[in-house]
Amino acid sequence: MLTKVTTADKTETFLNESVGETYHSQTGAVEEALKKYAIPCKIAEKALSGHIRLLDVCSGLGYNSAMAIDIALQSNPKCVIEVIGLEYDPEIITKIQEVNPPIPFFNHYKKLTPETTELNEGNVTVRFIIGDARETIKELSENHFDAVFFDPFSPKTAPDMWGTEFFKEIYRVMKESGIMATYSCARIARDNMSKAGLFYDDGPIVGRRGPGTIATKWV
Ligand SMILES: C[S@@+](CC[C@H](N)C(=O)[O-])C[C@H]1O[C@@H](n2cnc3c(N)ncnc32)[C@H](O)[C@@H]1O
Repeated sequence: MLTKVTTADKTETFLNESVGETYHSQTGAVEEALKKYAIPCKIAEKALSGHIRLLDVCSGLGYNSAMAIDIALQSNPKCVIEVIGLEYDPEIITKIQEVNPPIPFFNHYKKLTPETTELNEGNVTVRFIIGDARETIKELSENHFDAVFFDPFSPKTAPDMWGTEFFKEIYRVMKESGIMATYSCARIARDNMSKAGLFYDDGPIVGRRGPGTIATKWV
């Protein structure tokens, strides 16, 4: 069962009662999208190149990628932006209709449903692939993405998502200059990133929690 909750920045998310976790940080759902994902992945800077490809792993409601699209377009309105979202739960996609975060591009995400998984808006395309991300990521091309937002449930709840095999797939699909960001600083997650060949560092501290993690193919 999914119950709507309001986070500390007054933006909404859902609590998944069977998992026992919310879809975003309770310290601020929209704040997290900006400060834990768009800023550390240097979306504004990368948009100046004129083309961004973004992989939103465990895309859920899509806050993280919708925020990144706004940041990229503010930086360069002509930027061509391609987003792939990986999400296995059609129910959370239906919940996009029930929230109104202050993310202008999110209004376009309202076109997404479990049946309509693609949208084209000007120079932006978004495609959600519905299925287990551990399998669907294998469909994606290597050396493709400038940024990867990695937002599964926690390592404690969903350890398989944080394993070496999955991080090897992220390594494969990321460009040499790509940046991955995640909210967690768990030891096991960082160790598995290293085993997959990624180099990690602290991401920003947002709210009262510990730092997130950013990871790249090069130091
Ligand atoms: C912490 S929430 C992410 C919230 C999301 N980034 C957003 O902005 O709404 C974790 C998401 O991972 C999805 N998920 C969990 N396991 C998955 C898997 N194996 N493959 C794809 N999605 C998965 C859940 O359905 C949930 O939407």
